[in-house]
Amino acid sequence: MNFNLLIIFWCIPSTLSLNEVDLRRSLLDPAVYDKFVRPRINASHIVNVRIELTSVNVISLASSGNRIPRQDWKDPGWKERESSFSQACILLLNWDDEFLTWNASHYEGVDSFVMDPSFLWTPDVTIFGRMEGNQGVDFSRVQVQSNGSVSTLFSGLLTTHCSSNPAYFPFDYQLCTVKVGSQIYSSLDVFIEITSVKIDKEQEGNPTWDLVDIKLRNTSYGYQEVFFCLRRKPLYLTVLYMAPTTMLAVLVLISYVIPSEAGEKISFGMSLFLSFMVCLLQLIGHLPQVSTSVPALEIYYMLHMVSGVISVVVSSFTAYVIHKTDQSPQSTVTKVKDVAMVLDKNDKTDRKVMKNPNGRLRSGIFLNRFGFFVSFLLILTANSVMINATLVSTGCIYPE
Ligand SMILES: *[C@@H]1O[C@H](CO)[C@@H](O)[C@H](O)[C@H]1NC(C)=O
Ligand SMILES: *[C@@H]1O[C@H](CO)[C@@H](O)[C@H](O)[C@H]1NC(C)=O
Repeated sequence: MNFNLLIIFWCIPSTLSLNEVDLRRSLLDPAVYDKFVRPRINASHIVNVRIELTSVNVISLASSGNRIPRQDWKDPGWKERESSFSQACILLLNWDDEFLTWNASHYEGVDSFVMDPSFLWTPDVTIFGRMEGNQGVDFSRVQVQSNGSVSTLFSGLLTTHCSSNPAYFPFDYQLCTVKVGSQIYSSLDVFIEITSVKIDKEQEGNPTWDLVDIKLRNTSYGYQEVFFCLRRKPLYLTVLYMAPTTMLAVLVLISYVIPSEAGEKISFGMSLFLSFMVCLLQLIGHLPQVSTSVPALEIYYMLHMVSGVISVVVSSFTAYVIHKTDQSPQSTVTKVKDVAMVLDKNDKTDRKVMKNPNGRLRSGIFLNRFGFFVSFLLILTANSVMINATLVSTGCIYPE
């Protein structure tokens, strides 16, 4: 009898002491816990889901001009990579589940446990406009605490639509918007709130983009907007394109100094034009293929090319004026004569000057100077377009 009692007393503590397995069983027993029910004892109470967003790294901001390798044709996420913003980010989620509370001292002091999210209620955090097929956010493991606080995280690649405006390219800032909310629940049932956003200080940094700022905005549509402000790093494009263009511009101006008699002037102008063309073809690969606005760098190029064309046109006319044979001017002069006689009789003297080789030379020089002036003006305009782009583009323009 005594022996039996001893056994009973020896057994009592071990049977009474409940461990983590018992805890899970008691909490998540299908008879007690339904994962489709909002975790509120009073159904009129709201579930607040708090999200902390950390942008770890900007992977890419692609407009259709930037070619991104299509990794897998079957994966729908990789087909529509145009106008997309990819980033590595971490979303830390936290909400309270009123059905998952316990007294830790009853369970060997276990005050938290980790489990698979498929066993409990999880909010449907949706990233609207996400391009990876599934707009929802998949969670890794969840951690449940004895006071009912549930936390989990999403860590991975987030690709969202972002249409860029390249007006100030390559000195442009781009604003990308990510909308976060719940698709299933109204904001009166489940309120998804981003409490903080931050840029990971240790981020490696993207070679072409700087993440300058992140801002939050509440909308009345039941979702929150997160604005990512990105700045393009212009060094590569500036060195690769603006430096050679400036050199070519100098050569265009020099082409006016070459005497027409040298005969090489036009071919020099043409080869300059072709050099511009080669540079432009190279540039096309970098320019965003967007029809909403013309990039500043393209205007810069176009103005330089026009100045090159003017140099060729002016050289041709100068050569024509200076070298025209005696037969051709006569015919034109006689044609002009009849009109000129009617208009002004004093014109005779001018026509004499034109016939005069010195006068032709002089008008050739005038044409040359005029061409030089126009080309110079165009190059100046081109550079002021770029300077304007650097001055005007100072940050993102956030919507009201
Ligand atoms: C539920 O909450 C509302 C508002 O807080 C309260 O008015 C109501 O009495 C509560 N219902 C129950 C059953 O506790
Ligand atoms: C937890 O259980 C212990 C022992 O039964 C009790 O003393 C304590 O007050 C309980 N704590 C809470 C928060 O109910």
